[in-house]
Amino acid sequence: MESPARTKNCFQAGDSALIVDRKARQYLINLVCGETFHSHLGRLFHDQMIDHTVGGWYRTDKGHTVLAVRPTLGDFVRKMPRGPQIIYPKDLGNITNFADIFPGATLIEGGLGSGSLTSAMLRAVGSEGRVITYEIDETLVPRAIKNIEKFHPSHSNHTVFIGDIYEGIHEQEVDRVVLDVPEPWRAVETIGDALVMGGIVLSFVPTIIQVQSFVLALERDTRFQMIESIETMLRSWHVTQRSVRPDHRMIAHSGFLTTAVRCEPRFRAALPDQTDEDGGEDQGGQIGSEPDGDEGESS
Ligand SMILES: C[S@@+](CC[C@H](N)C(=O)[O-])C[C@H]1O[C@@H](n2cnc3c(N)ncnc32)[C@H](O)[C@@H]1O
Repeated sequence: MESPARTKNCFQAGDSALIVDRKARQYLINLVCGETFHSHLGRLFHDQMIDHTVGGWYRTDKGHTVLAVRPTLGDFVRKMPRGPQIIYPKDLGNITNFADIFPGATLIEGGLGSGSLTSAMLRAVGSEGRVITYEIDETLVPRAIKNIEKFHPSHSNHTVFIGDIYEGIHEQEVDRVVLDVPEPWRAVETIGDALVMGGIVLSFVPTIIQVQSFVLALERDTRFQMIESIETMLRSWHVTQRSVRPDHRMIAHSGFLTTAVRCEPRFRAALPDQTDEDGGEDQGGQIGSEPDGDEGESS
């Protein structure tokens, strides 16, 4: 039988495919001519999918039908081999959004880990942008690069620098700095030296004590303004004809995001009054607030 006409969105040999069964179980595979995917549902030949449509239903030799789609970045991240804690899809979008990472940006990353965040940032800066990652532990690099290459097979705009980001950033006039390291407050001075005026730093940390140390260090430095911290919780919903309710489980805590903008230094006299802590100084316009900034506690 003649193979069907190739449409715009057919799988090719070498592509990744996400196989989804009727119970929503997912399997990530790489399509290779002549190879077979085995599961409890039977055998599925890669050639059944190569040159055939993405989003199509395919039948195994045991007669079960499965769906084959292209994996998203989030699918790759969830399934990637890892060592250190990765950034999950819940936070990847918020990081690229709140750090305002744009196509063409030059971005410094602190902490390569398994390459999850790097993959998202490479996508956000695009082929015209650059990501330079500082990683202290050389042994993590091969696995992370392998992970990144699964999603960005032919990228050349990523550099890994083996070194301690607290000791210094060699690049100057960078647009963004994104940190996923345990003590971001130790990098504040070097970030201030590296960021272009108006550039943004974002830090992801799991505990609020780390947030406080980072925020206080940013304030002490005087070159950072618009310092804001948030966390997000993600709750999915169960929606059927008979029942519409939140799922029993949710992703509540993963980490906190803190952002700040590199500005002209402020005179020390203009620092927030340390004695006013109980008064709850209203900064307004928090990143998690409505645009008009009129929500929040009344005092
Ligand atoms: C939580 S992991 C990063 C995970 C990564 N964002 C991901 O999504 O896969 C933290 C990483 O920071 C690295 N690291 C810790 N301190 C560092 C430092 N001072 N300079 C550079 N890298 C550092 C660790 O070796 C580790 O790989």
